[in-house]
Amino acid sequence: MTVGIGIAGAGTIGGALVRRLIDERAAVVAKTGLDLEVRAVAVGDLAKPRPFTVPDGVMTDRPLDLIDDPRIDLIVELIGGTGIAGDLVMGALRAGKPVVTANKELVAARGPALWAAAEAAGADLLFEAAVGGGIPIIRPLSETLAGERIVRVLGIVNGTTNYILSRMADDGATYADALAAAQGLGYAEPDPTADVSGADATSKATILAGLAFGAWIDSAAVHREGIEGIRRADIGFAADLGYVIKLLAVAERTADGVSVRVHPAMVPVRHPLASIRGATNAVFIEGGAVGELLLAGPGAGRGPTTTAVLGDVIDAARGVLAHARVTPRIKIEPADAADFGSIATKWYIRLEVEDRPGVLAAIAAAFGDHGVSIKSVRQEGRGDRATVLVVTHRAPEARQRAAVAAIAGLDVVAEVGAVFRVESDEA
Ligand SMILES: NC(=O)c1ccc[n+]([C@@H]2O[C@H](COP(=O)([O-])OP(=O)(O)OC[C@H]3O[C@@H](n4cnc5c(N)ncnc54)[C@H](OP(=O)(O)O)[C@@H]3O)[C@@H](O)[C@H]2O)c1
Repeated sequence: MTVGIGIAGAGTIGGALVRRLIDERAAVVAKTGLDLEVRAVAVGDLAKPRPFTVPDGVMTDRPLDLIDDPRIDLIVELIGGTGIAGDLVMGALRAGKPVVTANKELVAARGPALWAAAEAAGADLLFEAAVGGGIPIIRPLSETLAGERIVRVLGIVNGTTNYILSRMADDGATYADALAAAQGLGYAEPDPTADVSGADATSKATILAGLAFGAWIDSAAVHREGIEGIRRADIGFAADLGYVIKLLAVAERTADGVSVRVHPAMVPVRHPLASIRGATNAVFIEGGAVGELLLAGPGAGRGPTTTAVLGDVIDAARGVLAHARVTPRIKIEPADAADFGSIATKWYIRLEVEDRPGVLAAIAAAFGDHGVSIKSVRQEGRGDRATVLVVTHRAPEARQRAAVAAIAGLDVVAEVGAVFRVESDEA
């Protein structure tokens, strides 16, 4: 039996998907026994040229019409955003039609409502491409690892920022030059804010935390820091100390509940995430029984993302033919984020100070007064000024902040140049 596919959005991913569904139709039949027929393609501008040819009547600029079109068995949403894409996905699920989407923004913003609608109508919602592009991560977390007690998930889930940080580390590029190179290669948008501010990674962190821990932490409650303030000097100092700076999405189980955060972090060079370079993405999962898993690969781009979407389409089509859901029931309860001030990590702190006797003692005393213990200190003098690099043992955020505020107030300290968390290092 033929399964009728309706695709909303025919841009980078949607256009490539339509083309593959047409070009590889026979190959998909041969491999899966499923005959997938593109019966509607909805776009914003019907006059734009497309990388595929479809019969008359297939193109439309009315995506919501796909919901009630009896020829359409499953809907693929590749418009993006939370506007009409949200109306389409919610409408289709309520109507009992399976939906495939790559839209992390939508899943992060409205995940629980979408799963509730899917559950109520007995429809499938598949979103493998929403996190990590071509890397299988949604299925491993929600199916293969469903019985695992996951302790922590660390992700490099934004290729643009990883490319920028890699260029800064490997080639000594400035932030501005690395960003311009990312834009030149099409990794970064003309307005790169969503990537460099950590907003895109925050959507993915929300989804990863939900699937890993069954806890839905509102994206707005996720602590977020971007990479805009990272200086080449800190990347160099980090390298000297044996670390690489990465933008990490972190979801972890703590004594106070689930913590979800996105921020630059120093990762030891021997950690598997340290070797993830360029636009590559990776998700590192620590489980109580399974141990450590690394899933890595292309996190975006036409080919990899389309492969993930096509896999979801094939899965959803199997459900259509079987008159059954193919996705597991997703049980994710709303939860409060763990108190951020109590989250403990090691810290790297760069201080610009006056180079005179007693300075280090004053700094050490301020750390000690706030219960932050120092692991190592390194000082590099430059005339009457010096750079002091402090790495602490694990200390809660609140204590580190209080200590750094006290240090900033010392008259021998000219500037607190940088404060980074050190992730995934022994105590
Ligand atoms: N690009 C990637 O590497 C990547 C990776 C992972 C996930 N994703 C996700 O995949 C989704 C699609 O991304 P993309 O890069 O393919 O976006 P895109 O190139 O901007 O394509 C968006 C498509 O949506 C259509 N559209 C916009 N408004 C519409 C409306 N009101 N009605 C009907 N169609 C409308 C556009 O029509 P026109 O063509 O007529 O303008 C275009 O075809 C997003 O959720 C994105 O986050 C993308």
